Amino acid sequence: MSRVIGLSGSLRRGSLNTMLLRACQALAPADMEIEILSLSEIPMYNGDVHEAGLPAVVDNFVSALREADGLVIACPEYNRSVPAVLKNAIDWASKTPPQPFDSKPIAITGASRGVLGTIMANHHLRQIFVYLNANTLNGPEVLVGNAGDKFDKNGELIDDTTRQFVSDYLSKLQDAIDI
Ligand SMILES: Cc1cc2nc3c(=O)[nH]c(=O)nc-3n(C[C@H](O)[C@H](O)[C@H](O)COP(=O)(O)O)c2cc1C
Repeated sequence: MSRVIGLSGSLRRGSLNTMLLRACQALAPADMEIEILSLSEIPMYNGDVHEAGLPAVVDNFVSALREADGLVIACPEYNRSVPAVLKNAIDWASKTPPQPFDSKPIAITGASRGVLGTIMANHHLRQIFVYLNANTLNGPEVLVGNAGDKFDKNGELIDDTTRQFVSDYLSKLQDAIDI
C-alpha cells in the first residue's frame, strides 16, 4: 500500500480544490491511500521563530511529508501564481533538512472557475519543485477549468472526463512511486 499526502492550496470550507483532492481519494488506485493534511495551522515563515525551534505543527507536517511515498497537490491560482498558504508551507518544509521533496513523486492538479484552470499556478509550482529536486509528474496535466460546473452541491466530482483524467493521473503517480 502506498501512502500519499494530499495538500490543498485553499483553506476555504467550500474549496473546489479540496473537493478535487477528495475526488483524488475516491479515484486513487486500490493500492494507494491518500491522507489530506490541512495547512490552516502552519504559521507564516519567520527565520527568528525557526531559529528558536521548529514549531511542533511544522515538525509534524514535515515529518508526514518525509514519510509519505508521494504527494498530490490541488493548487488554486491566485493572481496567476501559487497561493501564499501553499508557498509558505513549502518554504518551511524546504528549510527543514532533510528537505522532504527531494526525489519525491508529486502529482500537481488544480481547479478554477476560470477556463484556463490554474495553468500559471501549476507552472509556478513546478518551477519551485525543480529547485527542490522533486519528481513532479509531467503531462498530460490535470487542470480543471470551469470547475464550478464539475462538482455537485455535495462536492462530488460529476464530470466523467475529469474523473478519468484524475484516475489516470493517480495511476501515473503510483507508477512513479513503484519505480
Ligand atoms: C486573491 C485571489 C486571486 C485569484 N486569482 C485567480 C487567477 O489568477 N486565476 C484564476 O483562474 N482564478 C483566480 N482566482 C479565483 C479562484 O480560482 C477561485 O476563487 C477558486 O475557487 C479558488 O479555489 P478554491 O475554490 O479551492 O478556494 C483568484 C481568487 C482569489 C481569492
